[in-house]
Amino acid sequence: MKKILVTRRLLQSNEERLKQLYSVKLNSNDELYSQKKLIEMSDGCEGILSALTDKLDAETINKLPKSVKILSNFAVGFGNIDIEAAKKKNIVVTNTPEVLTDATAEIGILLILGACRRASEGIEGARASNWKWSADYLIGKQLTGTRLGILGMGRIGKKIAKIAKSLGMIIHYHNRSKLSPDKEEGATYHKELKSLFSVSDVLSICCPASKETINLINAETLEHLPKGAVVTNVARGDIVDDEALIDALDRRKVYAVGLDVYKGEPNLNPGYLKHKSAFILPHLGSATKETRTAMANLAIDNLEEFFKTGSSKNKVN
Ligand code: GLV
Repeated sequence: MKKILVTRRLLQSNEERLKQLYSVKLNSNDELYSQKKLIEMSDGCEGILSALTDKLDAETINKLPKSVKILSNFAVGFGNIDIEAAKKKNIVVTNTPEVLTDATAEIGILLILGACRRASEGIEGARASNWKWSADYLIGKQLTGTRLGILGMGRIGKKIAKIAKSLGMIIHYHNRSKLSPDKEEGATYHKELKSLFSVSDVLSICCPASKETINLINAETLEHLPKGAVVTNVARGDIVDDEALIDALDRRKVYAVGLDVYKGEPNLNPGYLKHKSAFILPHLGSATKETRTAMANLAIDNLEEFFKTGSSKNKVN
């Protein structure tokens, strides 16, 4: 039986499946392993089922035992892994695309609604019984007729576009390449980021974190947004320069933010907390039972496929 390290606790049915397939080291206390501990724990393992909370940088990867041949990441994003370092060490890296598209798009829409309709302030007022109805109480921004700019029209971006369109939003997008008209479903393509930003009453960040996208939302790019725009991020915190976004909130250049992901999670820049207009969630994108089960099953399928064939359709390096 192959030996596998699973770095975080998974849902029970997934752990049962792993126990049947492998000699598996589970993390029943769901302890967050340090890089040193992760290296020690992977001793004798042929595969690691990792999570987005594991920082598998080049230094860590280079210290992994030679027995490790695959990092099966329990996420669609793989910014936590230095995939080039893994490649150099002949370690295959896989991810879990598609199965989390719907759940993550739902949170993407919640961020848009929560930020535009002042949900944070509303929840606070309702919980404290500190409100009274009036014609101008917590007036927010209506989505109908509002322009939504999607940064990254991949699977999640497309699903957000589809739902947002059904809510009456007008969809614009920027992507590395233009989609074919049948896939665009009426959305307008912007080759230049600046052009997309200039029409984004609401911006939805849906692109992966990569060398090209780190801090893509910064003091300069934010200036291209219309005054009073709303910025939402369902992708990765690394894409946003927090100081610049908080400054834009301070100046009311940005009206509200909707965030599910942060640089340096689980911490977030305290500057967001002083803004009532910040609608913030703790990285809930894929957090439904169906999706987390499907993601872990796909991460296990990726291990299985790799051990049988030496590769996987979800290989990313
Ligand atoms: C979640 O954030 C993922 O990348 O799967």
